Amino acid sequence: MNETIDLMLSHSSVRRFTEEPIEAEHLEAIITAGRAASSWKNFQSYSIIVVQSEGKKQALYDLVPQPAILQAQAILLFVGDHNRASKAAQLHEKDFEAKGTENLLISSVDAALAGQNTLLAAESLGYGGVFIGMIRHKALAIAELFNLPDYTYPIFCIALGHPAEQNPVKPRLASKAIVFQEEYVEQGVEVIQAYDQVQTDYAGARQTETWSERMVTQFGQAEQPETKAVLEKNKLL
Ligand SMILES: Cc1cc2nc3c(=O)[nH]c(=O)nc-3n(C[C@H](O)[C@H](O)[C@H](O)COP(=O)(O)O)c2cc1C
Repeated sequence: MNETIDLMLSHSSVRRFTEEPIEAEHLEAIITAGRAASSWKNFQSYSIIVVQSEGKKQALYDLVPQPAILQAQAILLFVGDHNRASKAAQLHEKDFEAKGTENLLISSVDAALAGQNTLLAAESLGYGGVFIGMIRHKALAIAELFNLPDYTYPIFCIALGHPAEQNPVKPRLASKAIVFQEEYVEQGVEVIQAYDQVQTDYAGARQTETWSERMVTQFGQAEQPETKAVLEKNKLL
């Protein structure tokens, strides 16, 4: 349809990278484009920590052993951030209370929009990348490793680099299963079965469990304790 939409439709996560570095001006352009995303009241309630040193990448990998972390030429850690808001309160000599669900949604949505813009910008320059949300399972150690102050929390990383492999585009749910006209239409199990089959056909021999089994695992277990723990520690819950 146009170049932008073609780029968006050709997205697939890249988890293996070559050793070729990311050009510094490309990385700057990628992050600047990421930060152009919309944000709640323009608060920009997130920070981005750029990790390129081998030492820090190794330390992160030791906590979250995903090969993409070691192979990436840059890891961008997106941090939900109301610390700057606390400084505004200080400036105006007002009380500051950041605790609460709405404030968490504000920072998480802002970070997600910037993150998606960032990955898309990287893809437009021929790089590949993947979001890494599993860092939240080690949120306390990550907060310490990156020196996160009060009113901040780790949300996800994006691992970026030159692709060493490219997976075919992963098919999404059928449009009628996820896009409704005028009102919500609750779906039955047949939608789940149909998409399980689509995913099984896509993954082939690589599949270890079906799409619905993965969801059952996710939603059948207790909440990851560290996500909440870091929010409590940094005065957001
Ligand atoms: C917030 C978020 C966290 C993710 N965390 C991980 C992760 O920890 N490890 C990983 O390999 N992929 C991770 N992914 C990538 C998803 O698995 C991937 O986007 C999804 O399977 C769709 O595949 P595609 O991006 O190739 O289209 C994450 C994606 C998002 C949006």
